[in-house]
This record gives sequence, structure tokens and C-alpha cells, in this order.
Amino acid sequence: MQSEDFSNMINWDNLFKQSSAFKNSEPFSFAFIENFFTDKFYNNLFETYPKIEDNWVISSAMSKYQHYKTWNNTHINEPDKPGNDPSFSEYFNKLKRYAESEEFVSNFRKFSGVPVSKSRTINFVSYKKGGFQYPHIHNSSPSTLIIMLYFSKGWNKGDPGGTYMATEEDESKMIFEPYNLNNSIALFHDGPMAAHGVRYITKDVTRQGMQIMLEGYDEESKRWASDN
Ligand SMILES: [Fe+2]
Repeated sequence: MQSEDFSNMINWDNLFKQSSAFKNSEPFSFAFIENFFTDKFYNNLFETYPKIEDNWVISSAMSKYQHYKTWNNTHINEPDKPGNDPSFSEYFNKLKRYAESEEFVSNFRKFSGVPVSKSRTINFVSYKKGGFQYPHIHNSSPSTLIIMLYFSKGWNKGDPGGTYMATEEDESKMIFEPYNLNNSIALFHDGPMAAHGVRYITKDVTRQGMQIMLEGYDEESKRWASDN
């Protein structure tokens, strides 16, 4: 079977340039990459980013106010099933198929040194005015990479909305927050120190984003690294 052509979608060089910054950051590995997608593919994604409508899930608790949408309404904690969701554009479905390819996963494995083997989930995650998420730590497995992808223009330096990294579960311990949310990604290696969150958005803006989780998976036992 001819494999699908995923060329000219991602500027992989821009990722690899940040490899040592990722590996050397403290107290956990994280990095920020600008111009992640090629201009043409990014424009196609940006133009077809789904609008937050009634069919998005509102995740509202003491700890957060966030909107998300999964592929084919898979439960947020369940691994994705391979394949498309026809309610999303072909560009986003192509991105999902690429994220499920060995080429995509092995590039992130090489970049990070984290032994990820498969894409576990890919979701749309957005925050509107009033959106936020308290700083938290997942620590779900030593072979989990969490990638936030941004599709928001017109962000100003200092504006909240991008996922920040912190040295503790404490917003005042923030050590990095992205401000260019137009064709950029931020990613971190999950672990006991990997604190992150989203500051409260006061302006009438929408942080359009996605999250891709790559993780170790054992084909024999069919278990993910985070399975207990
Ligand atoms: Fe998180």
C-alpha cells in the first residue's frame, strides 16, 4: 500500500533547532517552537479551525474553564481511534493522520529523547474570555509528551492564554509563557515537576489551540505507559 504523502506540512528543522533547549531546560524539559507548520498548510488549518459552538464540551470546575472537542466525540480520557471525523476539515484530519504516523512520532522521539511510540489523543482545546486553568501536574508516565499547538493571531506580549510552565503548582512560579500563538507549538515532558496552566483571560479573545499527546505503548500487552 502506498503510504500517504505528508511532505510540506511541518517545518521539522524548526523543531530540531530547539532540541538541546528542550533537553536542558529545568526543572523539566520543555520548548517553544515558532513557524511549526509551513505557511501554506498553516493557513489552511487556521482558516478551517472549528468555531466554538454548542457542540464543544465545556470543561468547567473550580480548576478551569475551557472548551474542547475530540475526534468523533471520543471521551477525553480515552485514546483516539484511528481515522477521520468528517465534521472537521480535511486539513485537520490530515494532521491527525500524520500525528498517527511513525514519521511524526519518531521525529518527536528524536527531538526529545522521550521514548514515545504512538499518538494517544489529539483534541481541540480553546479558551475564551474568562477561560483559565489552574497550574497542575499530570505525572501520568515517564514516556508522555504533551504538545500544545496554537492557531491564534494578534496576541500581545504579556497577554494571558498560552499555556505557561511553572516550577510548582503556583502561578507566581511561572517560568515561561508563550505570546506568539500564531503557528507555534509548546511542548513538555510529563513528569513529577511538569507544572503548567493557563492564566485567566480578561480580554474578549479566543485562544484557539490543540493538544497532541504522544506516549509509550507496548504492542504486545496493548498497554499505554500511563495505564496502571
Ligand atoms: Fe495539563
